[in-house]
Amino acid sequence: MTNSPSITLVLAGTGKTGSRLATELAKRGLGVRTAARNGADVHFDWDDATTHRGAVAGVDRLYLVPAVMRMDFAGQVATFLDLAEKAGVRHDTYLSAYGIDQAPPQVALRAVELDLFGRGGLTHSILRPAWFMQNFSETFLQPIDGAITVPTADGAEAFIDVGDIAAVAAETLANPDAHAGAAYALTGPEAITMSEAAEIIGRVIGKPVRHHDIDRDVWIQGTVAAGVPAEYGEMLRMLTETIASGTGSRPNDNVEAVTGAPPITFVDFARRTAQAWT
Ligand SMILES: NC(=O)c1ccc[n+]([C@@H]2O[C@H](COP(=O)([O-])OP(=O)(O)OC[C@H]3O[C@@H](n4cnc5c(N)ncnc54)[C@H](OP(=O)(O)O)[C@@H]3O)[C@@H](O)[C@H]2O)c1
Repeated sequence: MTNSPSITLVLAGTGKTGSRLATELAKRGLGVRTAARNGADVHFDWDDATTHRGAVAGVDRLYLVPAVMRMDFAGQVATFLDLAEKAGVRHDTYLSAYGIDQAPPQVALRAVELDLFGRGGLTHSILRPAWFMQNFSETFLQPIDGAITVPTADGAEAFIDVGDIAAVAAETLANPDAHAGAAYALTGPEAITMSEAAEIIGRVIGKPVRHHDIDRDVWIQGTVAAGVPAEYGEMLRMLTETIASGTGSRPNDNVEAVTGAPPITFVDFARRTAQAWT
């Protein structure tokens, strides 16, 4: 990799990790191009290949996030990576998920990892984060009427703040040679149960919040009725079963090893985020 001025294409550039990564790269004085269907620097749609060539033109680094809430995207990503390599992209930091190294090759997130291992013209770094803390403030774990409803029993998870994911991603994209071939399992500093997370949020906002451990089938039916694609409902079944069975993520030191700073705690996340719940 040369040290000539670079541009990173940040896919999902308006999303939770991509928007923070773009800010982080810009702070470092690096070139950034965010991509999404709406509101980004370039219009990019996974389902419209005519938007891909322009997005990668002049780019040498890539933050790769496949189309979200899908189960079948490995072929689409492979075609895009072929195009990106031809266009001059030389490093890809890929947002995968915790434990995906143990998944069978037909799981799309794992299939993309295996694809990257086989590419000669493109180095890669793989990020495998635990569940995001921002799920509690921006998506499906937001308390509603004082309850966080999710079928995870009393299993624990080492939730991570997306700011820490963005910090690791920025480091890999700023110094790709130092992180070529690396895979980082990214966790917060402690594993906590949903009840503990609810208790912390309740303490911060001064109102009781509890964990409602709903029947899993009922919960999945509800998420599908609310608009989650049915095939992704099955992914949510697997993800919640993993936590409920006591095999959720466990803390490690990867964030600090890459960034030099410890990942933020759930209490700190809740304090910084309190406004979202009031
Ligand atoms: N949440 C978790 O706890 C967790 C844990 C581990 C891994 N992950 C992984 O994190 C990834 C999601 O990342 P994120 O949370 O940073 O994103 P996000 O907040 O869910 O945002 C999705 C982004 O993708 C864009 N997008 C959606 N559909 C698109 C399409 N068809 N073509 C192009 N862009 C599209 C959206 O913008 P537009 O809608 O405008 O296009 C937006 O910028 C998923 O792959 C998930 O597996 C999540």
